[in-house]
Amino acid sequence: MKCQLSPRLLLLPILVSLALLGLRVQRFAEDPVTTTPALAGGDAADRQRPAGPGFHWHGGVAGGRGNATVKPPPTRHPLQPPYPYPYRFLLNEPHKCRDQTPFLVLLVVTEPGDTAGRSAIRQTWGNESSVPGVSILRLFLLGVHPVFRQELRPLLEEESLLHHDILQQDFLDTYNNLTLKTLMGMEWVSKHCPNASYVMKADRDVFLNLDYLVRQFLIPPKKNFMTGYIYRNTGPLRNKGYKWYVPHEVYPNNTYPPYCGGPGYVLSGDLASKIYGVAQTLSVINMEDAFMGICLHALGISVTDSPWGVFNMYRIEYEKCRFSQLVMVHHYEPQQLLKLWPGFQEPKTTCHH
Ligand SMILES: *[C@@H]1O[C@H](CO)[C@@H](O)[C@H](O)[C@H]1NC(C)=O
Ligand SMILES: *[C@@H]1O[C@H](CO)[C@@H](O)[C@H](O)[C@H]1NC(C)=O
Ligand SMILES: *[C@@H]1O[C@H](CO)[C@@H](O)[C@H](O)[C@H]1NC(C)=O
Ligand SMILES: *[C@@H]1O[C@H](CO)[C@@H](O)[C@H](O)[C@H]1NC(C)=O
Ligand SMILES: *[C@@H]1O[C@H](CO)[C@@H](O)[C@H](O)[C@H]1NC(C)=O
Repeated sequence: MKCQLSPRLLLLPILVSLALLGLRVQRFAEDPVTTTPALAGGDAADRQRPAGPGFHWHGGVAGGRGNATVKPPPTRHPLQPPYPYPYRFLLNEPHKCRDQTPFLVLLVVTEPGDTAGRSAIRQTWGNESSVPGVSILRLFLLGVHPVFRQELRPLLEEESLLHHDILQQDFLDTYNNLTLKTLMGMEWVSKHCPNASYVMKADRDVFLNLDYLVRQFLIPPKKNFMTGYIYRNTGPLRNKGYKWYVPHEVYPNNTYPPYCGGPGYVLSGDLASKIYGVAQTLSVINMEDAFMGICLHALGISVTDSPWGVFNMYRIEYEKCRFSQLVMVHHYEPQQLLKLWPGFQEPKTTCHH
């Protein structure tokens, strides 16, 4: 059988493919850099999880075509949180410390949509009366939901009216903006509660034993004090595939000063204003915990080591006696806490130590 295809017929699909390919290449080149923001409130421990689609930064490309004065190339890398910037409080509790100075201000990082998480935390370790005789003030830190900005507003306003424990500023609530949340907390303490003895920052997915923290480590009140799980001799992850990617443009040094792991750390109240102050003068990075270390370094203040096993960055299976003698365990979902908390609160009679 003779099968003769004319060269023109053979060429046609190739030409069509090339034309389509060309169109695609052009479209990619013209597409603005689009990043899908990861929701914030994430953790700092499973530092192996890739961030999904690789992030690409085309430095200076934006203004590269024709008239460079139309759009100047960005001087700030997109992963660098915009700071200093006069973020406004959308939800605030400015008078919480007017009548009583709390011993500990507990700042809890949650996403705007995480109503259930906040509810569980209020009923467990975030309960302000969980340490008898010690005044604790709990506040949740929120940014603006990157998608449901307006939709969530009435819900958050209602929750705020009911519980009076929400601080929200007008920056996007994304993983790479977590530093802005912590700085919002430092700003709030320095402006509205400067005499608090201590501030604790906690992520939503932790088990926290404030009673042990306060009785073992915080009395009597200290100054220039910050503790938690201390990371030493670590440095930024330069691989774009990671959730914890820190570009050279954001932080050029290859090492971080010592810092406390993000899931839970505590600092003396005087440090809140000092950190907030010095942060106005530094280049902010997208890792909030390492940035706190950078602030301390700039202030010439050292972190304080905590005894081994008191702050746990990895999950430990719940065991009442063991958990009654530690401060923090990472990777406990609020719903799990609801189940174990009643038993944890019962008098401890069977522990030997
Ligand atoms: C470039 O932009 C500036 C400011 O918008 C304008 O004044 C100038 O005419 C533009 N030049 C060209 C070559 O388009
Ligand atoms: C907080 O703890 C107190 C004292 O144990 C308790 O009476 C109260 O119901 C708790 N609050 C919440 C929201 O669970
Ligand atoms: C951080 O928040 C600012 C202000 O809302 C926003 O412009 C920026 O895109 C956010 N950055 C990231 C990485 O989400
Ligand atoms: C904090 O303490 C100082 C000095 O004791 C006092 O002057 C100031 O009024 C206090 N501020 C608040 C908000 O309680
Ligand atoms: C960054 O590196 C420079 C040069 O080694 C050093 O002087 C500076 O203190 C470092 N900064 C931090 C925050 O470690």
